[in-house]
Amino acid sequence: MEKLSEKTLVPKYMQEYDLDEECEELLTTLPSEKCWNGIHLHQYQGFWFAPEFLQAVISCQKHFQAFDTDILLVTSPKAGTTWLKALSFALINRNKYPNIHSNHPLLTKNPHELVPFWEVDLYCNKDFVPDLKTISSPRIFSTHLSYESLPKSVKDSTCKVLYLCRDPKDVFVSFWHFISNVRSKRNGTLPLEEAFECFCRGVCPFGPFWEHVLGYWKKSLESSNKVMFLKYEEMKMKPYFYLKEIAKFLECPFSQEEESKGVVDGILNLCSFDKLSNLEVNKTEKVSFNVENKYFFRLGQIGDWKNHLTTEMIEHINSITKQKLANHGLSF
Ligand code: A3P
Repeated sequence: MEKLSEKTLVPKYMQEYDLDEECEELLTTLPSEKCWNGIHLHQYQGFWFAPEFLQAVISCQKHFQAFDTDILLVTSPKAGTTWLKALSFALINRNKYPNIHSNHPLLTKNPHELVPFWEVDLYCNKDFVPDLKTISSPRIFSTHLSYESLPKSVKDSTCKVLYLCRDPKDVFVSFWHFISNVRSKRNGTLPLEEAFECFCRGVCPFGPFWEHVLGYWKKSLESSNKVMFLKYEEMKMKPYFYLKEIAKFLECPFSQEEESKGVVDGILNLCSFDKLSNLEVNKTEKVSFNVENKYFFRLGQIGDWKNHLTTEMIEHINSITKQKLANHGLSF
């Protein structure tokens, strides 16, 4: 049990965050655990959040008003958010920026700057609610929120949700590298075994991974017009096919003429790991939430888990996946 501060009766660590009273009060009532990265997570609506993200989630649930034309990109952290942002931005804006070799925003801006996160960009300030009405449509937003926790207006509107998931073994390994890189300067390396144990129990930011996937999987089966369910591995293997499928789902299909002019290939090349990771902006700059862009581009491959996990770990995580997802017709 955390020691309560005499002044505010909230645990001391919470005072480091800029939280409003409602959030502070809520946090004290929620289950809490210390996560692999030393951060306290709180379980809200079945999923685990760091305090500042919970503040943003509550604000977003309260204030976000969806338009029917909105596009929402949803992922678990490290499932390929950066790639999906780049692809969606390039796809939707292909007439506005036809020249992918010069003047395209993706050449000088990181995809996270072009498609804002609700949690880390838009609703992160407790005293400020952004006015999003003036953004030209279709607006593209991104979030790691579970389906259950999406703002009501998203569910009530006809806006579209693209959900991208990935083999949890690769998600975990990618997450471990990311957190280790981001925090290494402050706290040294993060023990892999400890992180793995937390991930498998579901206690990681925006976890549990499996329940997150399942929520969107079920919704995509129930309402295929609303939620398109994508897998990183399948997109890596058949990018041309999936980009065309995404375009159809978003009601902006490629014409025959565009295909024959190489527009699909152009977008895929522009958004490829090799292209994006070698751009100056992604090698040297930082995104708004103060993480170096280069940490969003590591390997961009399928199956790096083989280089990090022991046989026991692989069996353990595979059995969780089987137990939680197989009955629903989902596997990796
Ligand atoms: P690895 O760590 O396995 O390399 P997110 O964008 O959700 O934070 O996920 C990051 C993961 O996506 C990292 O995986 C990163 O290398 C990979 N990634 C980033 N850009 C990509 C791209 N254009 N194509 C494929 N994978 C990409």
